[in-house]
Amino acid sequence: MPVILAIESSCDETAAAVAVDGKLASNIIASQKIHEQFGGVVPELASRAHMQNIVPVVDQALEKAGIELNQLDAIAFTQAPGLIGALLVGAQFARSLALALNKPLLAIHHMQAHVIANLIEAPRPSFPFLCLTVSGGHTQLVVVESPVRMRVIGETIDDAAGEAFDKSAKILGLPYPGGPLIDAYAKTGNPAAFRFPEPKIPGLDFSFSGLKTAILYFVQEHQRENPAFIQDRLPDICASIQHRIVTILLNKLKKAAEQTGIKEICLAGGVSANSGLRATLVQMGKKYGWSTYFPAFEYCTDNAAMIAMAAHYKFLAGETASLAETPTARAAW
Ligand code: KG4
Ligand code: ZN
Repeated sequence: MPVILAIESSCDETAAAVAVDGKLASNIIASQKIHEQFGGVVPELASRAHMQNIVPVVDQALEKAGIELNQLDAIAFTQAPGLIGALLVGAQFARSLALALNKPLLAIHHMQAHVIANLIEAPRPSFPFLCLTVSGGHTQLVVVESPVRMRVIGETIDDAAGEAFDKSAKILGLPYPGGPLIDAYAKTGNPAAFRFPEPKIPGLDFSFSGLKTAILYFVQEHQRENPAFIQDRLPDICASIQHRIVTILLNKLKKAAEQTGIKEICLAGGVSANSGLRATLVQMGKKYGWSTYFPAFEYCTDNAAMIAMAAHYKFLAGETASLAETPTARAAW
C-alpha cells in the first residue's frame, strides 16, 4: 500500500499530490498568474514562482491527505520534459526530501503522466489503449501497453495543438492561454463559417504551423475590408479554427486506430479539456465502435495527481530512480 508524494513543476503550475495505494488523497495546485501579462510563460519567472510556492503546496498536499512525512514510502517528481529551470526546483526539492527521509525517488516523464491521468478515475480504459496527448508543448499518438510501457507512434513535426490554439488566439487579440477562450467563443459560432486548410502530412504525424499562417493571412485580408472583422465575427472565427484543429487531430487518431486495431481510445493533456474535441471524439466512438475516455478537467491540464498515479505504477514495477537523477528539458521515451 505505497504512500507517494508527487511534485509537478515542469511549466507554470506548482503542484503536489499524495496517492495512497493508487488512490488520490490530495491534489494541490498553485497556478502562476504572473505570465498572463507577457502573453506566454516566462521561464525565469516560472522558476522563481516555483521556489515561492513549493513548500506551501507540498505542506497543503500532506495536510489535506492527513499524511506525515514519515509515512511516505516514496517521493516522485517530474523529470522531463519541461522548462529546465522550473523542473530543477521540483527535482531538487524531491531529491532533498528523499535523501532526508531515506526513501526512494521516482522520476516521472511528464507526457507519460498525462496519459496515465486516464487511470485516476473510473471508467478506466483497458490495455492496450491508444491515447491522443495534446498539450501546450506536445501532440502525440501513444500506444499504451501497460502503465509503465508505452510508445509514441505519431507526433507533431512543428507546433503542438495547444500552440495552434494559443497562437490563433493571439492573432485574434485574445490573452494567453487562448485555448480555453477559443473553446468558449466557439460554443456560439458556426464551425462551417470559414474554411481553413488541412495539412497533407503522411503517416501519423501532425503539422500545425501552416494553419497559424493561414489564419494570420485570413484575418489580415478581412480586416482590410472591415477593420472590425474580428469583433464582428469572433464566435464564427473561433468555431471554424477549433473545427479545423479538431479534425486534424481526430483524422490522425482514426488512422492510428485503424492501423493498430485498438478500440480503447483516450485523450490526455491540456487541449483534451476542449469541448469540441471531446464531443467529436464521443461521436466518432459511437460511429466506429470505440470505447472513449478522457480525464476529468482538472486532470487534463498540468497537475500532480497524474504524476502521483504514474509514480504509483512505477513504484509497483520497482522502477525507482537514483538520487543523482537530474531533470532534462527534453526526454526520450
Ligand atoms: O497540458 P497543459 O496544461 O500544459 C502543457 O504541458 O503544455 O496544456 C496547456 C495547453 C495550452 O495550450 C492551453 O491553451 C490548452 O492546453 N487548453 C485548451 C483548453 N484548455 C487548455 N485548448 C483548447 N481548449 C481548451 N478548453
Ligand atoms: Zn503538460
